[in-house]
Amino acid sequence: MPKQQVFRGNFFHAPKYGEIALLAQYLLVVDEAGIITAVLSPTAPNYVSVLAAAKTAGTLHDFGEQLVLPGFVDLHIHAPQWPQAGVALDAPLNVWLDQCTFPLEAKYRDLAFAQSVYTDLVAHLLSLGTTTAVYFATQDLAASLTLAKVAAQAGQRALVGKVAMDNPDQTPQDYRDRSSAAAVADTETFILETRQLAQDAPQGVYPVVTPRFVPSCSSATLKGLGELADKYHTYIQSHCSEGEWEHHAVQVRFGRRDAEVLANFGLLGHKAIMAHCNFLNESDAALFAKSGTAIAHCPISNAYFANGVLPVHRLKQAGVEIGLGSDISGGFSPSLYDNLKQAVISSRMLTDGVDVTRPVAERGVANSRISVAQAFYLATRGGGKAVNLPLGQFKVGQICDFQVLDPKQPANQLPGLNLFPQPLDQLAKLLYLATPANIMQVWVQGSRVK
Ligand code: GUN
Ligand code: FE
Repeated sequence: MPKQQVFRGNFFHAPKYGEIALLAQYLLVVDEAGIITAVLSPTAPNYVSVLAAAKTAGTLHDFGEQLVLPGFVDLHIHAPQWPQAGVALDAPLNVWLDQCTFPLEAKYRDLAFAQSVYTDLVAHLLSLGTTTAVYFATQDLAASLTLAKVAAQAGQRALVGKVAMDNPDQTPQDYRDRSSAAAVADTETFILETRQLAQDAPQGVYPVVTPRFVPSCSSATLKGLGELADKYHTYIQSHCSEGEWEHHAVQVRFGRRDAEVLANFGLLGHKAIMAHCNFLNESDAALFAKSGTAIAHCPISNAYFANGVLPVHRLKQAGVEIGLGSDISGGFSPSLYDNLKQAVISSRMLTDGVDVTRPVAERGVANSRISVAQAFYLATRGGGKAVNLPLGQFKVGQICDFQVLDPKQPANQLPGLNLFPQPLDQLAKLLYLATPANIMQVWVQGSRVK
């Protein structure tokens, strides 16, 4: 990477939840560590001199009229479920886990298989503009390290968890941690080895303490994992209150709500990311907001497995951090474009309701809509906040991750773009209608990865 680079282009970002800005023909100055050190508008006094110096030094990347978006953050994706994307979407969650998902995940003990699937997935995600991903790997330690290595080498920012799952009542004999002690010890080894390999990954590869979800873990494991997260100050991820079954099962086992159980085991906090969370009540939401726990909203997956729609608007108002997740393969699409569209669509159906035999006034949940600008924030800065990293916006001090889109690609020319000159319309068109054919380049931490 050269010492300093300068990028010129039309940059879209979300400076605040619900707001978008177009930085037309701006310059981004990026240092050798991949951090944005200046954001210059064409009227800035030093614009011309910075531009000329970069041209002379050969460090200018000029994207012309192409459109640049922040890299997307996928807060929740099961890498081993990639081969299953698009199938097995017709069973309830517990049946799907037992019959489809656990048998597939068990295959990753074969490290050659793991290497080939993970290499394909990481390249695919980068090509879709996903520059940061928060992964569940599998129960197997070595295969989980394979995922961390693949992402590290591909230049993707990755937060990776070896999945802990030892409860014999909820996991198959050939796919579970041998004991609670083994689940905790393997997680500790995973933390240490991932931190080791992260030393050669400037974009960041981080270990995540990962109890699969409360039902699949013994109490001793949940306790041990909470202690490990505290000892090593790691990220934490799990599933919380995803659907009726999980929510009820936790209530029966502990006599408490899912969020409370996680909190009591030390598994919430500002580095914790919980998937789904559809059934959080007001006190759960307050617990999340107070502890800084973020929600990975997975709207496509939720349409199949969650028995409900996440009330994004209500939870944002309660002060909870939210970003987006694909939840491959509970969700079929690895694209955050698809997921942000579904977040908007689901929120509209929540607002209006779906059963036309009910009176209009009783059909939906008023004020639940989110806009495309809000969904864009969730996919970018919302994700950055959830992982506590300065990313998702084009601002000084932020990490330089972005994707460059060409709306005039012959394979997918966005219709009528010039008829709608307003930045919000242009961005909406991009988000709704762009396909992978429009994503020309992807950069992570100042380095080109596509
Ligand atoms: N809950 C526990 N494991 C899983 C999983 O793999 N996918 C989803 N969607 N929910 C889960
Ligand atoms: Fe999941």
